[in-house]
Amino acid sequence: MSGLFEKINLGSKLEKQDLIDILNITEQNDLEKLFKAAYQVKLKYIGKRVSLRGIVEISNKCVKDCLYCGIRNSNRNVERFELSKQQIVDGLLTAYSFDYGSAVMQGGERTDEKFIIMIESVLHEVKERTNGRLGITLSLGEQDEEVYQRWFDAGAHRYLLRIEASNPELYKKMHPSDHKHERRMECLHSLQNVGYQTGTGVLIGVPGQTIEDLANDLMFFKEFDIDMIGMGPYLVHPDTPMAKEFPGFEQKRKEQLNLGLKMIAAARLLLNDVNIASTTALQALDPLGRELGLLAGGNVIMPNVTATEYRKGYQLYSGKPGLDENSEQSRLALEKSIAQAGETIIYNDWGDSLHYFKRCGKE
Ligand code: 5AD
Repeated sequence: MSGLFEKINLGSKLEKQDLIDILNITEQNDLEKLFKAAYQVKLKYIGKRVSLRGIVEISNKCVKDCLYCGIRNSNRNVERFELSKQQIVDGLLTAYSFDYGSAVMQGGERTDEKFIIMIESVLHEVKERTNGRLGITLSLGEQDEEVYQRWFDAGAHRYLLRIEASNPELYKKMHPSDHKHERRMECLHSLQNVGYQTGTGVLIGVPGQTIEDLANDLMFFKEFDIDMIGMGPYLVHPDTPMAKEFPGFEQKRKEQLNLGLKMIAAARLLLNDVNIASTTALQALDPLGRELGLLAGGNVIMPNVTATEYRKGYQLYSGKPGLDENSEQSRLALEKSIAQAGETIIYNDWGDSLHYFKRCGKE
């Protein structure tokens, strides 16, 4: 272990085996050392800064049937909702009025032309009404390159599409047979081709996943030259096929949280200048999970700005926090806890990925 920390503290290049050793840490002392070391790297590249993206959950209608996800198409226990164009615009403008500087539109996957046009027109309207000042990220699943291009031309500049598992065999176990790993890869290439700051990530602590899989996921982010990372611990949703593969989940919450934090720390140590989200799934495991994520190397938080009445409809996993809160309450609570963690929120800024500029030679 001391050899590992020596390597980490010297800033030496980490190999896959080092990542495996990091992810296998269990001693509290060593965990603290790890998070501190990752935090130092964050300070070096980013500072004590947190960027916020207000997230609008636009719809839980989804053509996909991922075996872990609460809004999968065949879950009949979900009441489906879809925000109107105006409601989406209002959500995004809420983020703008809170000075978040940047917002995300996320929703179940849809590929019909009506949907594509609606997103395009939301982008046009919001860009116009904020004089181009609100940065907009999309998280709307797999689309043709032409669609990614249209949305980019309409003003979106970042896109999140998790690979979910970089190991194709594990991906197969997590999805029905018509969901293809190759298609995800193709989409990630398209996003980079179009010019988006491209984000990806994985589910952490899924049944059947090994520590080596997770180390390979981190290596995948590096090889793919990813700009942003959004990954979080897997949480059971009872109405999904994967739930029965994780009996005793409730006793494993602390372990899932720590694994999520170790992945953030390892990603920061390996990738240095990328944006790393401290995701809501961490908060679902611990009320201060997102703040712990910041102290382990994360630098982005995505507070919910969806109108309260729709939050219940968008439960990818059970135990989602903030269901009864409104956006103002979410903001005040978050501002307080971020200050307590000793971090500073950067307002009115897009908080772009430094890595993206380096990758494009625009540094
Ligand atoms: N637990 C944690 N994260 C989940 N997601 C979907 N279902 C779950 C779950 N049960 C994540 C997926 C997806 C993102 C929007 O939400 O990784 O990419």
